[in-house]
Amino acid sequence: MTRIVGIASGKGGAGKTSAAVGIGFALARAGKRVCIFDADLGLANVDILLGLSPALTLEDVLFKNAPLERVLTPAGPGVDVIPGRSGVARMADLARASRMRLAREFHKLSGYDFILVDTSPGISRQVVGLCLACSELVVVVNPEATSITDGYALIKVLKEQGLTRPPMLLVNRSRDERLARSVFERVKAAVQKFLKLNLHFLGQVPWDETLSLAAAKQRPVLEAAPAGSASLAFMRAARVLSETAFAPKQPHRFFDEAVVRAMEQPRLNGNGRAAPAREPPLPAGSLRDLEAAMALLDGLEGLDDHSTLVQRLAAARATLRRLRDALRKTSAGGAISSPPRAQAVVLSRNRSMAEVLVEVAEAAGLCVTQPPAGTRPDLAGKGLRLVYYDGDPGELGHVLAGAGSAPIVLVTPRGHLKGHPESLGVAEVVEAPFRVDTLVSAIRRHAPAGL
Ligand SMILES: Nc1ncnc2c1ncn2[C@@H]1O[C@H](COP(=O)(O)OP(=O)(O)O)[C@@H](O)[C@H]1O
Ligand SMILES: [Mg+2]
Repeated sequence: MTRIVGIASGKGGAGKTSAAVGIGFALARAGKRVCIFDADLGLANVDILLGLSPALTLEDVLFKNAPLERVLTPAGPGVDVIPGRSGVARMADLARASRMRLAREFHKLSGYDFILVDTSPGISRQVVGLCLACSELVVVVNPEATSITDGYALIKVLKEQGLTRPPMLLVNRSRDERLARSVFERVKAAVQKFLKLNLHFLGQVPWDETLSLAAAKQRPVLEAAPAGSASLAFMRAARVLSETAFAPKQPHRFFDEAVVRAMEQPRLNGNGRAAPAREPPLPAGSLRDLEAAMALLDGLEGLDDHSTLVQRLAAARATLRRLRDALRKTSAGGAISSPPRAQAVVLSRNRSMAEVLVEVAEAAGLCVTQPPAGTRPDLAGKGLRLVYYDGDPGELGHVLAGAGSAPIVLVTPRGHLKGHPESLGVAEVVEAPFRVDTLVSAIRRHAPAGL
């Protein structure tokens, strides 16, 4: 019975290859037969990391009739590697006839207990196809705002494309167990609430220099530094993985599904560019995505990038954009949202905050304009003024002067303003950090054309 485990991350450099090799060797040490399939299109480096020099790659099996045994490269006791290289990119070029032959070839892999599929970073169709063809999925994140939100984005896109089994989360480069746990709890809460999917904790791997020392020696870390903290962490993760409930999958079915999904992708034309496809409409639900991304980070202390509120909001917003792009790439998208009616003008000297306010106002259904920073409210155009102000409280009156009858929703850092600025024409104050739904309600309450 073979378990086929995809290892993926939204962000590059999260530690997928280190995890595939580390967990692979740890499983082998526990008596399992392991195959690591290097399916990273951009940076296929499992062979380099392990000092292997494979003569053949997956491409030779797919297109040159090479038997699979000649491609399986022994990497240590109980561990073989399939170097994917360009073979992975060319999967979509297979003819139906050769798929029948390949089914026989890949059936030979059914002697393995585990096939670990090391994927490319990001949420390309290729990654989505490979992950969905696997029977299990490990998502690797680091304790950084962007890595966490990108990991969530990946799970979301996979869910939209048909993922039903709960993925596992591995928190890599974590300072300690507590931080890793709190990252996991956040992601799990968001995945449960917004995606209606469960999430399992595979474990945490601390930052450990033995990983790069082992890489420099081109040896697996479990052999180069078996008592190092990374090796011990991979052993723990391998134990958790072994004990997790699973549904086995025939390896030839995995490859066939991966090929079929690759075939669904846009074909490359003679210039190596994807043939132009009809642009699908934007998926709906962007407000929920933004809320989910913010829920992942709100209140999460001790992240490695010392995220300030604004950085976290910017990370959440970036995730929202990636989600939209990924959904555009991988599906026909959802319904088109109804055309915006009310107008809003966002005024903020802080660019990241301005971007967040634009995003929230658009998600709330308004048509937003953003004049150059420093524009006076009275010159800014029509509609609700959505203003972020963290300057001298005494100068707020001057800043807001002349907005006329336009309603103003003012966003300020918590406790920044003393007293109530209603006399300045402010309809409502929203203090940051704010919950997205709080700001959305305020915008909707005061937007000129009743939303
Ligand atoms: N826990 C860790 N501690 C120290 N260095 C790490 C850790 N995890 C990964 N690295 C290093 O980070 C780099 C990227 O890791 P890698 O596993 O190749 O990421 P990915 O495959 O996701 O791109 C490598 O140089 C690796 O040695
Ligand atoms: Mg890698």
